[in-house]
Amino acid sequence: MGAVNNVNLNIVRVDTSGDVATRALEVFIEHANEAIDARGRFMVAISGGRTPEGFFRLLGESPKASAVPWDKVQLFWVDERCVAPDSDASNYGLAVNTFLNKTPIPESNVHRMFGESCDYKTAVEDYETTLRRAFDLKVGQVPQFDLIYLGMGADGHVGSLFPNSYVVFDTNGLVSPVYFMGEKCDRMTLTHPVLCAAKHLVILVSGSRKAEVVHQVLQGTPDEVKYPVHTLWPVLDRVMWIIDNEAAKYFDQ
Ligand code: 6PG
Repeated sequence: MGAVNNVNLNIVRVDTSGDVATRALEVFIEHANEAIDARGRFMVAISGGRTPEGFFRLLGESPKASAVPWDKVQLFWVDERCVAPDSDASNYGLAVNTFLNKTPIPESNVHRMFGESCDYKTAVEDYETTLRRAFDLKVGQVPQFDLIYLGMGADGHVGSLFPNSYVVFDTNGLVSPVYFMGEKCDRMTLTHPVLCAAKHLVILVSGSRKAEVVHQVLQGTPDEVKYPVHTLWPVLDRVMWIIDNEAAKYFDQ
């Protein structure tokens, strides 16, 4: 796959979903060591969904991951559903069950979104406060994560930036509420200015279910409303796509 809008795409094509997980772990370790060596800490945000599960399990089980100075890792979330941490739909709960309960990361380094809060607007504001404190931000500043992991839905959403939603246009806040008419629960998400400020982003794409959307979003003129992943197009040079062969099957056509 060549350039998109004169930006060379950084696509790492791998064979299987297991290879997506392995490569995602390698990127985590590489950027963690670089950030910790350079700045004494690693500011990383993760998404939920099924795609990162293999990567998360490796974070909890791989000897290479256990060598990461976890006391210097500060962990955040890209988005969260408004559910309790023990809900099967919780992105935090997924992390706990796959790696957090197996790594020595200090509890104080784990900065989850309080999706269970009944006062949803306050939960959004609280996470903005968490970000401002963790990154020591002045008013108007945007946190610069060392690394952000995203998945991509079959509709081209990333985080909880969904197509045809106002949240794609929310550029004032660091965190935005996402009210769902259809889905079982509302959400909260980092806004795209926060995503675009990251030093590095990784988009994990796996499975034939994503082949069509990958093919669509990597062609033609960006349309953030139709494909919110296009909000990242100004920083494509900082985006690594890790895509397995099933999801990349239209690349060869
Ligand atoms: C979430 C994620 C969401 C996810 C995509 C892809 O809360 O579920 O943040 O953005 O990354 O929906 O999900 P899958 O990996 O399950 O396809």
